[in-house]
Amino acid sequence: QFKIIAMDGGAAVGKSSTSKGLATRLGLMHVDTGSHYRTLTYALLAAGADAGQPETIPQVLDTLRLSTEIEGRSARLGINGQVPADAEIRSPEVNANVSKFAAVPAVRQKLFDYQRSLAELAREHKYAGLIMEGRDIGSVIFPDAEHRFFLHADEATRSARRAKEGQTDSIAARDKMDSSRKTAPLVCPDGATQIDTGPHTLEEVIDKIATLIEK
Ligand code: C5P
Repeated sequence: QFKIIAMDGGAAVGKSSTSKGLATRLGLMHVDTGSHYRTLTYALLAAGADAGQPETIPQVLDTLRLSTEIEGRSARLGINGQVPADAEIRSPEVNANVSKFAAVPAVRQKLFDYQRSLAELAREHKYAGLIMEGRDIGSVIFPDAEHRFFLHADEATRSARRAKEGQTDSIAARDKMDSSRKTAPLVCPDGATQIDTGPHTLEEVIDKIATLIEK
């Protein structure tokens, strides 16, 4: 039976490593929706859009055509036929702007149908299911997902993780903006299983979640 797994949580709580590990373990297609917001932010900045003037954004969004490329188990978002490089969507400039653009309703609207359609794509490609990570997956994108998880970790663990990745990224500022915006704020979805990743290794977290999913 095709499974949809919603994996939500703040910045640097371990969502990506956990989701990728689970995708490999359980034969799922993996989608990182944080990369979708980063990709749109990158394209919007390149087009000269200003998050401070949200009324001008729909016009720019209309020039951006979304596509999908499957790389291994992960489905990646392309814009006008191109998937931007990781270095481009994880730059300090994107880090500093992504939460501002993600708070603009037209930006979220642009991704809503697209993200939901990826379940169909995963079925067509004969994956056993879809694991999607983000901030609003269990609350807005797939509120009916049978498997919903919310990861969290203490501040020290999260900063240490990002420092190890060599990132210039104010994760606390992003979480604050993501939690306080009006449209689709970062919340623990109703009925989600909360997991503190701080005291556990990646393997332990994957084992625990895989057991819950397969129960
Ligand atoms: O997951 P990552 O830290 O790469 O996400 C980057 C940003 O994208 C988040 O800080 C948030 O502003 C936005 N985002 C979102 N909704 C999602 C996923 C990410 O608003 N489902």
